[in-house]
Amino acid sequence: MGYVVSIVNMKGGVGKTTVTVNIATCLARDYQKRVLIVDLDTQVNATLSVMSPLDFAKLKKERRTLKTLVNQTIQADIGQPLRIQEVIYRDVCGVPGLDILAGDVELFDDYLLSALINTKAIANQQNYEKTWNRVENYLMRMILKPVIRNYDVILIDFPPGDNLITRSAVLASHLYLIPARAEPLSVVGIGLLESRIKQLRECDRTKIKMIGLAYTARGQASNMELKVKHRLEAEFGPANIFATEIPQNVDVAKAVEDYQPVVINNPKAPGARAFRKLTAEFLQKLAKTVRGKK
Ligand SMILES: Nc1ncnc2c1ncn2[C@@H]1O[C@H](COP(=O)(O)OP(=O)(O)O)[C@@H](O)[C@H]1O
Ligand SMILES: [Mg+2]
Repeated sequence: MGYVVSIVNMKGGVGKTTVTVNIATCLARDYQKRVLIVDLDTQVNATLSVMSPLDFAKLKKERRTLKTLVNQTIQADIGQPLRIQEVIYRDVCGVPGLDILAGDVELFDDYLLSALINTKAIANQQNYEKTWNRVENYLMRMILKPVIRNYDVILIDFPPGDNLITRSAVLASHLYLIPARAEPLSVVGIGLLESRIKQLRECDRTKIKMIGLAYTARGQASNMELKVKHRLEAEFGPANIFATEIPQNVDVAKAVEDYQPVVINNPKAPGARAFRKLTAEFLQKLAKTVRGKK
């Protein structure tokens, strides 16, 4: 069965997308895993990190984006239904086994969603909050269910912030990984995330487990960086922090211009080497977390 892994941090610009596409590529190319990237961000950064805007435009024209599946699942779509297998784009960047469920700049319409939930609540004589929670519970689970067995790992690239679809994706995940920068403001996003996950756990809506926290853009070691690291280590425990840190490396950012992850675009770059190491550690940590041992 495929493990669904949320790559999540409430804060933007911390390396979520970069970690998602590079780990996904290494898993498929170097370990022959069957991998699905799910782009949950309306800024479609993960999608545009593995395909050109032209290819994305073609997919959008064919309605092969997450939006179609979201709308179908909440019964808001008016077009011909598509199965997730038809929506997924296979072997991206020429890597066999590396698939993507493309994002969409207009993932869902908040107003339409509220109206639909209200109609459902009235029809089922349930209160609005209960109906909302039900939609949250099933939305991403239902979308991924038909293909979950086809993959070893499904990596979900999160947008910053918190909304119905991000909570639904957390509820559909077995595990989560937090990309972070060792900066004071990064800690705020992590605190918020942890409190949201705690809330969902407390009302038994998820048994999601943390794989670990990974530093994504190591700069010059400074006092500030060390202080943040001490704080996060005290909070999560050393076993929950990845030993591999991704260095700040211009090749990582430059690879995006060619619509490729750095591990393909420039395999010898320091950032690419670090992502290969991070992937090896990811697999070890995943196995340990699943077995329940630290
Ligand atoms: N190790 C790195 N070295 C240099 N630039 C990086 C590195 N990691 C990420 N970036 C760049 O930083 C920016 C933010 O990263 P991104 O992965 O998009 O963050 P998020 O998805 O959390 O918003 C992007 O422009 C990305 O190319
Ligand atoms: Mg992103």
